[in-house]
Amino acid sequence: MPTRRETLKSAAAFAAAGAWPLSLRPARSPSPAEAGTGAQAESAAGADEAYSLFDFEPLAKAKMSHAAWEYVNGAAADEITVRWNREGFNRIRLMPRALVDVSKLDCRVNLLGQEMPFPILLAPTASHKATHPDGELATARAAGSCGATMVLSTLSNTSVEEVVRATKSPVWFQLYVQHDREFTRELVKRAVAAGCKALCLTVDTPISGARNREQRAKLALPPGVGYPQLTGLKIPDDPSLHLARLESSIFSSLLSADLTWKEVAWLQSFAGVPLLLKGILNPADADRAVKEGVAGIIVSNHGGRNLDTAPATIDALPGVAEKVAGRIPILMDGGIRRGTDVLKALALGATAVQIGRPYVYGLGAAGEAGVARVLRILQQEFEMAMALIGRPRIRDIDRSVLWPAT
Ligand code: FNR
Repeated sequence: MPTRRETLKSAAAFAAAGAWPLSLRPARSPSPAEAGTGAQAESAAGADEAYSLFDFEPLAKAKMSHAAWEYVNGAAADEITVRWNREGFNRIRLMPRALVDVSKLDCRVNLLGQEMPFPILLAPTASHKATHPDGELATARAAGSCGATMVLSTLSNTSVEEVVRATKSPVWFQLYVQHDREFTRELVKRAVAAGCKALCLTVDTPISGARNREQRAKLALPPGVGYPQLTGLKIPDDPSLHLARLESSIFSSLLSADLTWKEVAWLQSFAGVPLLLKGILNPADADRAVKEGVAGIIVSNHGGRNLDTAPATIDALPGVAEKVAGRIPILMDGGIRRGTDVLKALALGATAVQIGRPYVYGLGAAGEAGVARVLRILQQEFEMAMALIGRPRIRDIDRSVLWPAT
């Protein structure tokens, strides 16, 4: 029987021989241009010791300003929905199959004609420079080195042109329709001209939720940082307006409370790229979306940041999937933290998932290197889940991986 010392020594040799699973290592050394500002140096700052997405939370909290942490980590009101998003996944039990050859795993998916190496996208999140000085460029570079698609927020602190240039992976553009519809049209055209491959219209945010922690923390963007996608838009000067509001009105100058299906048809008439609706929970809305001819929907409750006590997205997904019945692809986000969560979402009808907070924590903890590590960990965990459940191909993942409810 080996002694503890021998075991540790052989573990070290295993690691040194490069026998740790591949996907945690960068596919290749990044070029100096791709490495960006200090991403490699930062990788030593604790993120190398992160082995799960949860490990990034304390690292990010230690590095980020209190206000930025509250903004990212917080959710709406009593934060019940954000908790349900996790609990929903934890409740679902898995049913493995034994003695299946899983020596070759294939987790590629085709989404809207786009081949993805794994079914995980980066959800749109605003204001990356509140989290890390490299902001969206760090996120884009990490997405590029991992082969992940990044969905860029309308409220990014970096221009869509710079973001698309910074990554060799596809970029999608998330749209908050503005009061000024002509400005909105130009914004969409601009994003498409920059090279964005799809448009995600956020439909769950006619106004923002009661984000009390965000309100108390009063996040302001660093000096000189703004919203380049909104340049030229006539809005009041205060750049933190949408972040720390307690105005006399619940309406925001950056969100359109009058958004309806009319705008969905209008956007499709000129967008020139596939349109997805982000923030669908109701099966009736999903059905309408299909009938309106949209390319896809994203089951999302905005990470619990808007309507508190709306259900967990993993609980909403089956009803939506049943209604859509395979007519268009469904994505989902909210609470994805483990590879088994990705597996469960696919089993219940999603083609792919998005992560929000986890990669923002990676960004806060270690910039580009942190985002890349978050993606690699989740991809690797998903591969582990596929192997251990006995489903080496994505197309074999269906409800049979779920333990029947008792
Ligand atoms: C978001 N989300 C979001 N959604 C959107 O459509 N436009 C946006 O600008 C933002 N901004 C944003 C900022 C921050 C800090 C967070 C945490 C989230 C919602 C996001 O796209 C996604 O729906 C959730 O983050 C998914 O839940 P998880 O992964 O954070 O649990």
